[in-house]
Amino acid sequence: MELRMHLAWNDRRTRQFVTNVGLITSNGPIGPDIMAAEWTHHISYSPSLIAINVRGHDATAENIQSSKEFGISIAGEDQNVVCSVAGGYSGRLIDKIRLLKEAGIANFYESKSINVPMIQDAAMNAECRLMKQEELGDHIMFVGGIIEISANENIKPLVYHNGRYWRLGENVLSPQPEVKETIERLSEKYKRIK
Ligand SMILES: Cc1cc2nc3c(=O)[nH]c(=O)nc-3n(C[C@H](O)[C@H](O)[C@H](O)COP(=O)(O)O)c2cc1C
Repeated sequence: MELRMHLAWNDRRTRQFVTNVGLITSNGPIGPDIMAAEWTHHISYSPSLIAINVRGHDATAENIQSSKEFGISIAGEDQNVVCSVAGGYSGRLIDKIRLLKEAGIANFYESKSINVPMIQDAAMNAECRLMKQEELGDHIMFVGGIIEISANENIKPLVYHNGRYWRLGENVLSPQPEVKETIERLSEKYKRIK
């Protein structure tokens, strides 16, 4: 079937998504690199897999295709400038990792199991091996199998929505007991198998 829907990157309807910002680190023919990817998703528990969607001409794609490994970090709420730099310049033209280090904006540590720099002070850091890659529309989906992972629960993840960065807001309260009772009663009434 031919799909006729083409949405521009800043279409107001797709601005309704709320995402994390993945900071994807890689190393390969381009050299050490970092990019920002809002399309970063945990897609399987066991085995543990994370998918990222990256444009084929990005330095990150070339690095991952060659080295078959990459780092995925979830940006912390104070890492908006890191995201802007990682997402605003191509690693083909600029060594963003050295730029970030020298500007004192970010620090990196050596990964345990892969040959890719990992960013410090993120909400989560995962070292991944490439399990699968698939061209989907105008991006390539890279699926990484997690081989090392750590999280810093004191660092809240940065939120990305409507083209801007946000901090997590207030917790939405659970429904009132009467609403819960109604749902319970109706779930009995509408059971498919009695
Ligand atoms: C917040 C943010 C989120 C982004 N998300 C994605 C994404 O999910 N996939 C993608 O291909 N590019 C995304 N980008 C754009 C890339 O980060 C950008 O093209 C970057 O320059 C690629 O770097 P590289 O060429 O060094 O790999 C995003 C940019 C920003 C600022």
